Amino acid sequence: MKITNLGSQSYASFYVACELYKQMNGDKHSKLGLATGGTMVDVYRFLVELLHKNQLDVSDVITFNLDEYVGLTSNHPQSYHYYMNDILFNQYPYFTTTQTYIPRGDADDLDQEAKRYEQLIDELGPVDIQILGIGENGHIGFNEPGTDLNSPTHIVDLTESTIQANSRYFEHEAEVPKQAVSMGLASILKAKRIILLAFGEKKRAAITKLAQKEVNKDVPATILHAHPNVEIYVDDAAAPF
Ligand code: PGA
Repeated sequence: MKITNLGSQSYASFYVACELYKQMNGDKHSKLGLATGGTMVDVYRFLVELLHKNQLDVSDVITFNLDEYVGLTSNHPQSYHYYMNDILFNQYPYFTTTQTYIPRGDADDLDQEAKRYEQLIDELGPVDIQILGIGENGHIGFNEPGTDLNSPTHIVDLTESTIQANSRYFEHEAEVPKQAVSMGLASILKAKRIILLAFGEKKRAAITKLAQKEVNKDVPATILHAHPNVEIYVDDAAAPF
């Protein structure tokens, strides 16, 4: 695992957008693992620009999103379905709903939905590049501290720290969902290449723990030390050195 400070959120986001673009340009059947959150907004903005400028046909590309809130329908403005449609999929006509997979947080049987999603990853994967943000508590996807290192896609009870951090996207903290469907740590490790991004001072503590090179269940992102192909890009504020 290499941690590289690219200086600013903009530089790092553009770099990662280029990596995603190059992957899709090199293989029209690429599979991408996508993430949401504030961290990814500029990555997708730059990616949409690159796609438009070059008119790349991505209609055979498959995408898997990491997670979705339980209880939110896909058209709820705070759902990750909505985020992805708004920021990426509706911004470029080649993306189709049949190629872009996101777990359903409004499924009647959530355990069944988690199983179905993991099966999809196994049938259509492996993912070529998985992009990840990181929580202030070290979570990746919604895998909170203490998550089983062998976990497949599963239903997660969000911790107070995550609910608090995510309340910035909701009008009232009481509206933040308390559960999510998330790819597990084992699902994430199935990707061939993993790129994690962290920006801002609030992420520095998590990145500092990640830099310690030991797998620690209390900091779920440290499971990435068990993967052979992981890159971490940070800005000045999140840099641990
Ligand atoms: P953020 O979330 O990009 O909104 O900071 C990242 C995460 O919690 O994984």
